[in-house]
Amino acid sequence: TPAMTPNRIRARKGGEPIVCLTAYDFPTARRLDPLVDLLLVGDSMANVVYGFDTTHGVTLDMMIAHGGAVARAAAHACVVVDLPFGWYQESREQAMRSAVRVIRETGCAAVKLEGGREMAETIAFLVERGIPVMGHVGLKPQMIRSMGGFRTQGKTPGEAEAVIEDTRAVDAAGAFAIVIEGTVEEVAAEATRVAAAPTIGIGASASCDGQVLVTPDMAGLTVGHVPRFVKRYAELGEALERAAADYAEEVRQRRFPGDGQVVRLAKP
Ligand code: KIV
Ligand code: NA
Repeated sequence: TPAMTPNRIRARKGGEPIVCLTAYDFPTARRLDPLVDLLLVGDSMANVVYGFDTTHGVTLDMMIAHGGAVARAAAHACVVVDLPFGWYQESREQAMRSAVRVIRETGCAAVKLEGGREMAETIAFLVERGIPVMGHVGLKPQMIRSMGGFRTQGKTPGEAEAVIEDTRAVDAAGAFAIVIEGTVEEVAAEATRVAAAPTIGIGASASCDGQVLVTPDMAGLTVGHVPRFVKRYAELGEALERAAADYAEEVRQRRFPGDGQVVRLAKP
């Protein structure tokens, strides 16, 4: 099992910032594993890997298939797999069945689920029965249909209070870490202050205990919209296009395969 466990992530509260990235496949996870503390198999996979408009496009079986690939690649990082929309909201029993399948069939360390006060009972149920859970409050992409689009959460006093109360509830329920997405700096700072568990921010300022980004977004691979809070650390999409263009030209000019890639009969 990888060195970074949910307990070790939790122990980083207020200390060295926790570094997280998403991963959905074996080769990417292999490269990221030694560099990060936590690898998240996020349901952002629906958007960035499968081309769906919302995270509602992925099923539990899809999360398990990709979660297994990432868990097989990880020797260092704590691997966390998202429970997708529709596989945990119905009841704490449904959540437990889904979480057990994810843990058993992928070998990952923990699951993540979206929700605040309304999911606290479910989180406690899972934690008490041996499933480490990561929370996710603030902007919750699985709620897109009832929120009417994505916007920063916590700009009004009422909304700010809601995010703080959600954080308190998820923390009290026993989450080992809490993702805070898409909120203003003041709310992220207060949530980080009130929670005993470390907060992992995305679009939530540097006042959190750690940060997470969607890897294809930060590496320049994502096609289409990339949120404003993302910083691009590489242009892998451009590198891939250049490689494909070079290959295409060489094939058309019969310069590939060249001497180095060809097998010939030995001269007698
Ligand atoms: O699905 C995902 O990638 C996530 C992170 C953005 C936190 O939930
Ligand atoms: Na997610």
